[in-house]
Amino acid sequence: WFSSLLFLHEISLAIGFSIKDTFLRTYTEAIQNYNKNDERSHAVDNVQESLSCCGIQSYTNWSTSPYFFKHGIPTSCCMNSSDCNTQDLRNMTVAATKVNQKGCYDLVTSFMETNMGIIAGVAFGIAFSQLIGMLLACCLSRFITANQYEMV
Ligand SMILES: *[C@@H]1O[C@H](CO)[C@@H](O)[C@H](O)[C@H]1NC(C)=O
Ligand SMILES: *[C@@H]1O[C@H](CO)[C@@H](O)[C@H](O)[C@H]1NC(C)=O
Ligand SMILES: *[C@@H]1O[C@H](CO)[C@@H](O)[C@H](O)[C@H]1NC(C)=O
Repeated sequence: WFSSLLFLHEISLAIGFSIKDTFLRTYTEAIQNYNKNDERSHAVDNVQESLSCCGIQSYTNWSTSPYFFKHGIPTSCCMNSSDCNTQDLRNMTVAATKVNQKGCYDLVTSFMETNMGIIAGVAFGIAFSQLIGMLLACCLSRFITANQYEMV
């Protein structure tokens, strides 16, 4: 029983690590390819707006994005959308006072860590119920096949 608990814990750590790793890679890529219009860019905007965060570790991560050279930091980073013009967002020094200071990666991962038990539980629950379903399907059909002869 204890070792299965340990196993569960290891699974949840592994799931957590791969989710975090995937998130970091996709988010970095999304910033590098940000264009304000495609679905991935909308996802970035949604995360930055809803969590009041900006960039990966900080807003400075936008400084290497091709989008920054053309348009500055996206408006979804703004602390106060009515006090945040595109001129401000092009200048890193000025932008520093106008955009969300927290990076999105830490916020997302700490949210995941506090909820990792639930996430792992759900993932495990789905796998487990599929297993039960498979067992039921298999044994039920065997049971029916076995009893067909008796019923005739
Ligand atoms: C984001 O910016 C921080 C601070 O400048 C830097 O340490 C970090 O490596 C950057 N992360 C990525 C994925 O570029
Ligand atoms: C946002 O900026 C506007 C214009 O400078 C200001 O009037 C307003 O109070 C600000 N709102 C917040 C929540 O800081
Ligand atoms: C950014 O703004 C500051 C303060 O207004 C200014 O001194 C600096 O020259 C600007 N930098 C760029 C690259 O425009």
